[in-house]
Amino acid sequence: MKSSAIAHSNIALVKYWGRSRTHDPSLNIPSTDSVGMTKLGESDDIRLLTHTTIEFSDVYEQDSATLDGVFLTGRAMERVLKVVNPLRTIAGISHRFKMMSRNDFPTQAGLASSASGFAALTIATVDGLGISLSKREISAFARLGSGSAARSIHGGLVYWYKGDSHETSFARQICGPTEFDMSAVIAIIHKGRKEVTSDVGHKSAHTSPFDRARVNISRKQAKDIEKAILTDDFSVVGRISEESSRYMHVVMMTSDPPLFYWHPNTLRLIKLIQKLRPSLECYASVDAGPNVHCLCRPEDAYELRKILDETDYVNMTIVAGLAGGSHKTGEHLF
Ligand code: PMV
Repeated sequence: MKSSAIAHSNIALVKYWGRSRTHDPSLNIPSTDSVGMTKLGESDDIRLLTHTTIEFSDVYEQDSATLDGVFLTGRAMERVLKVVNPLRTIAGISHRFKMMSRNDFPTQAGLASSASGFAALTIATVDGLGISLSKREISAFARLGSGSAARSIHGGLVYWYKGDSHETSFARQICGPTEFDMSAVIAIIHKGRKEVTSDVGHKSAHTSPFDRARVNISRKQAKDIEKAILTDDFSVVGRISEESSRYMHVVMMTSDPPLFYWHPNTLRLIKLIQKLRPSLECYASVDAGPNVHCLCRPEDAYELRKILDETDYVNMTIVAGLAGGSHKTGEHLF
C-alpha cells in the first residue's frame, strides 16, 4: 500500500483569497472562482514539483509525515490529516501511514508549495488506499488541504469553481499545456518563508472594506480570462492577471490585521514590468509572498529573463512553462 505522486505548483491568474463565509471554513470553499496556470520549471534542478510517497501499513504505530526531511506537527500535520482521514474512511482502512514529501523549490515563499504538496498527497493517498475516484473528486479532496491544490491536479490552464459544497467546489482544465502559449519568468526577490501563511491570511480577507468589491469583480475576471484563453488573447489574459493580483493585494493590505506580502523591491519590479510594455509584452502577478511571476509569451521569456537577471535586487529567476497534469509515479522516496 505504498504509492507516490508528482504534482506541479500553480500560479493563480485570477486569485483565490478568502473563504466563503456561509460554509464551514475547514472545507476551504472559496469566496470566488479562480483560474491558475500549472507550472513546469524549465531548469533541470528546479521543475517546481512536489514528489510525495505515502505508505499505509499495520507496522506503523502512528501517522507521520515529513516535508524536506522535517517532521510535520501542529497545523501542518492537521492539514495532511484533513485530506487523508476522509479518504481512509472511504477506503474502510484504519492503518497508520508514513508520508515523505520533497519540494524542488523554496517552501512557503509564495511559489505555491502547498498547491503542489496537497495535490501530490491526494493523488498518492487515493492510489495507496486503492480507491477509485474521478479527477473531479480528487481535485475536491486536494482542496481540503489547500484550496489552490484543487487546481494543481490538472495541467495547463485550470478553472476552479467555488461551488457551494465539498462536492461542487472543484477544478477542471480550460486547456492543456500545449494549447496556450505562455511562460512565467519568476523573479525571486526573497527566498525566506513568509511570515503569515495563506491559510491564516484567508481568515481576515472579509475584514477589508474592499473584499466585497473584489469578490464581485473576480467572478467576471474568471469568466473573461477563460474566454481570452480560449480565443488566444494573451493581452487580455495578462491584463486580467495583473489586475487580479493588484486587487488581491489591496484586500490583503486593508484587512485587519493588515498583510503586507510585498517587499519594497516587489513594487519596484511591478513598475519595471509595466515600463517594459508595450515593446516587451509582460504582466506581473504576485501571490502571498514578495516574489513576482512575470507572464509573457514563450518567445519573449529569455529576453525578459536577461533583463530580470541584470536587475540588482532580483536574486534569481526561474523560467516556467505550462505543465501537464499531476500524476502517479513508480519512483518511491523510501
Ligand atoms: O491554497 P492556499 O490556501 O495556499 O491559498 C492560495 C492563495 C494564493 O496563492 C495567494 C492565490 C491562489 O489562488 O493561489
